[in-house]
Amino acid sequence: MTMTDAMPSPTRRTAAQPGGGYDVDQVRKDFPILARRVHDGRPLVYLDSAASSQKPTAVLDAERDYYELHNANVHRGIHVLAEEATALYESARDRVAAFIGAPGRDEVVFTKNSSEALNLVAYAMSNAATAGPEAERFRLGPGDEVVITEMEHHSNLVPWQMLCQRTGAALRWIGLTDDGRLDLADVEKVITERAKVVSFVHQSNILGTVNPVATLVDRARAVGALTVLDASQSVPHMPIDVTALGVDFLAFTGHKMCGPTGIGVLWGRGELLAVMPPFLGGGEMIEVVTMEASTYAVPPHRFEAGTPMIAQAVGLGAAVDYLTDLGMDAIAAHEHDITAYALDQLATVPGLRIIGPPDAVDRGGAVSFVLTGSDNRPLHPHDVGQLLDERGIAVRVGHHCARPVCLRYGVPATTRASFHLYSTRGEVDALVEGLGHVRRFFGT
Ligand SMILES: Cc1ncc(COP(=O)(O)O)c(C=O)c1O
Repeated sequence: MTMTDAMPSPTRRTAAQPGGGYDVDQVRKDFPILARRVHDGRPLVYLDSAASSQKPTAVLDAERDYYELHNANVHRGIHVLAEEATALYESARDRVAAFIGAPGRDEVVFTKNSSEALNLVAYAMSNAATAGPEAERFRLGPGDEVVITEMEHHSNLVPWQMLCQRTGAALRWIGLTDDGRLDLADVEKVITERAKVVSFVHQSNILGTVNPVATLVDRARAVGALTVLDASQSVPHMPIDVTALGVDFLAFTGHKMCGPTGIGVLWGRGELLAVMPPFLGGGEMIEVVTMEASTYAVPPHRFEAGTPMIAQAVGLGAAVDYLTDLGMDAIAAHEHDITAYALDQLATVPGLRIIGPPDAVDRGGAVSFVLTGSDNRPLHPHDVGQLLDERGIAVRVGHHCARPVCLRYGVPATTRASFHLYSTRGEVDALVEGLGHVRRFFGT
């Protein structure tokens, strides 16, 4: 049975315009929450998409339809609902694979989020200690090194610290320049023959920086290290092709790409997944089980123990359709325009310091800043965030799960405005006006 036999696919409608681009006002109507009013009827200005994006009706409908019409467990029933649920779940895998240019659908592993995808690789590497010779590539111990960067989200930092604690390998990292980019001057000294894995973020969630993937992949390959790309902030915002990127693993998370929470993806090269030890054990990830030992299923099932996130995968499939229909090139162009405009406008706010690249070159739409008061001391980002919230403007404040970045730039925290496919120049204007209000409130 195919998906098509199981049920008609939902009608797909798009605000994409012939020749590229889209009508953002039309697009916003697809996101019911964007019409909300908050704090005494003020229009919501949602500038926190780097933390989590909003969801279009198509995604909400897909999850609801799944529960209303097709709900059952997958890969284990022979009744009609079980077959429909399995077809929907596996169809989501097909769509995700096509979306990121994966050569094989079995290279797409569903996880609960990016954090789990990254932990999966890190735990598979320490589980390799007790696996057979086929897992040699993943084994590491004292004398080996894991390389990351100083701009990692904690989800791509802590799992590697833990791996080093479990195995005795050492953690090394590439530092940052003053303008928020990777300091590649001594990359050859940091990524050496001792490196077993190089894991780095594609687009920083705090600085907005888009990193030069090819430079790091070339160096990692030259020393025989595996590469892992944390694409949590890039897959939602730009076209991604895993083959062109040349990495070995790629992790991303559904809720930042207009999909549901509770679903993420680990993509891995087929030949690597085929010999990679599992992370979690349980139902559906096995081949043969006795009381003494078990053998494991082939990928992707080896890495999907237990009942998976079925409705969430279906919702992610709908999100991928939505993004594809709008066009990832058009989304990237729209966000580039908004980011460039925001950087220009924020530069007019007295006492505002951008933490990250000050221009829109190789940069995404996460813009962090600190605001200085009249006494030359920074205003606390929590105060800034609260005063903006009173005006209906939702930003994120804190260390954004990237505390080493705040330490590097000597700030306890930042205020971050972040954009997505539905953000408008009008929202940037509202932010700048809101910051004027903050400054007046503090008498600066
Ligand atoms: C760059 C980056 N990596 C990883 C993550 C973790 O994503 P999740 O919390 O969905 O696992 C985030 C979330 O903010 C992120 O921005």
